[in-house]
Amino acid sequence: MASSLVLFLSSFFLLLIIASHAQTSFRPHALVLPVRKDTSTLQYVTRINQRTPRVSIHLAVNLGGQYSWVDCDNNYVSSTYRPVNCRTAQCSLARYTGCGDCFNGPRPGCNNNTCAVSPDNPFIRLSTVGELAQDIVTVQSTDGSTPGRSVTVPRFIFSCAPTFLLQGLASGALGLAGLGRAGIGLPSQFSSAFSFRRRFAICLSSSTSANGIIFFGDGPYNLLQNVEVSQSLRYTPLITNPVSTAGSYLIGEPSTEYFIRVNTIRVNNNPIAINATLLTIDNEGNGGTKISTVNPYTFMESSIYQAFTSAYIREAAARNIRRVARVAPFDVCFRSTNIVGTRVGPSVPFIDLVLQGQNAVWTITGSNSMVQVKNNVLCLGFLDGGLNPNTAIVIGGKQLEDNLLQFDLASSRLGFSSTLLGRQTTCANFNFTSTA
Ligand SMILES: *[C@@H]1O[C@H](CO)[C@@H](O)[C@H](O)[C@H]1NC(C)=O
Ligand SMILES: *[C@@H]1O[C@H](CO)[C@@H](O)[C@H](O)[C@H]1NC(C)=O
Ligand SMILES: *[C@@H]1O[C@H](CO)[C@@H](O)[C@H](O)[C@H]1NC(C)=O
Repeated sequence: MASSLVLFLSSFFLLLIIASHAQTSFRPHALVLPVRKDTSTLQYVTRINQRTPRVSIHLAVNLGGQYSWVDCDNNYVSSTYRPVNCRTAQCSLARYTGCGDCFNGPRPGCNNNTCAVSPDNPFIRLSTVGELAQDIVTVQSTDGSTPGRSVTVPRFIFSCAPTFLLQGLASGALGLAGLGRAGIGLPSQFSSAFSFRRRFAICLSSSTSANGIIFFGDGPYNLLQNVEVSQSLRYTPLITNPVSTAGSYLIGEPSTEYFIRVNTIRVNNNPIAINATLLTIDNEGNGGTKISTVNPYTFMESSIYQAFTSAYIREAAARNIRRVARVAPFDVCFRSTNIVGTRVGPSVPFIDLVLQGQNAVWTITGSNSMVQVKNNVLCLGFLDGGLNPNTAIVIGGKQLEDNLLQFDLASSRLGFSSTLLGRQTTCANFNFTSTA
């Protein structure tokens, strides 16, 4: 009895040694995921390999999402699926909401004594209860220029969700990729799996037919040969909102979304008047500015929006740009016939977000401010966020495209490039031809 136990233990250790050896023999410094803009929802959708046997799944990107979630009710088949038990370290890391039992299992998403969390669909503002789980995920590594060998995270943590939570997601998406600032967000899980710095960068393509990219880990970030875009970054602190902004949360939980401090907004170098209270996050978590991939266009609280659009209309008029009737959802539209095109988009007044930090000016040119709604009509791609939104300014997808944004969680700092078009590249210029 004793000797067979010893034998069992030693073979177990041998297996462990082999397993950890296989994992450490190649340690990537960075990983890449492709990300595509969906034509009809304007969501940004990434692709990840999960399960055994391996399946390629599409997940809509939720930049501030606490964790990733996947539909487990429909056709989830995997020999490596494991529910996360209640009262485990992984469960605490997920800031669990309770312990769950399930009566029509066992199957993925339905097991007893599991860690129950609240997967959230911010596109339709719906959250529910799901089982926390682990399964193998495979991602491509990179040297910053092309994708290299694939690497695996054997016990990637995510939440299961029922099929109805997929409502409102891009066609084909089976869940959300959560890039938020939490222990089980994608960035933290990847960096702890491979011991690289807790940082990632997104570069969303404005094209619906060419991939943008998400880099995890360190640069370089080569978009085109010899165009290394981390050289173009300016920096501002990332700010923690002490109150969660998720659809459901526990009292006292901070937000996992990415907030920055906007000090001023300028249109053609002229600062607009903004009620400063709105730009600060108060004790209840209201106010301030966040970056989001959930909103396709930037939202501003009504008084900021009014001041901003008035200034914009004035500056446009000074350039003989003619205003035309609104085209929903936009209020401010112009005839494009006398607007010339430039490398950085239509030649219209520039917008500067003056952020906290030295030289921390994020310039938004025509490529990121103007939306072509029909022949000869361009609209200002910003929307009125109403009178009492929780967050005063939400910087949305259109304003992020063809910009590199580097989120450094270790030093709580955002690096931003402003438009890459000025550097004669775009977010669609990463060479996805693998060298592996
Ligand atoms: C969970 O436990 C209950 C009884 O305690 C049992 O009826 C049920 O079948 C179990 N479910 C699973 C998925 O094992
Ligand atoms: C500024 O905004 C705050 C918060 O909405 C509000 O309480 C205050 O009255 C505003 N101040 C002015 C001068 O409008
Ligand atoms: C992309 O990378 C592959 C593999 O390294 C290389 O053969 C090819 O020339 C590259 N393409 C461009 C356009 O640089």
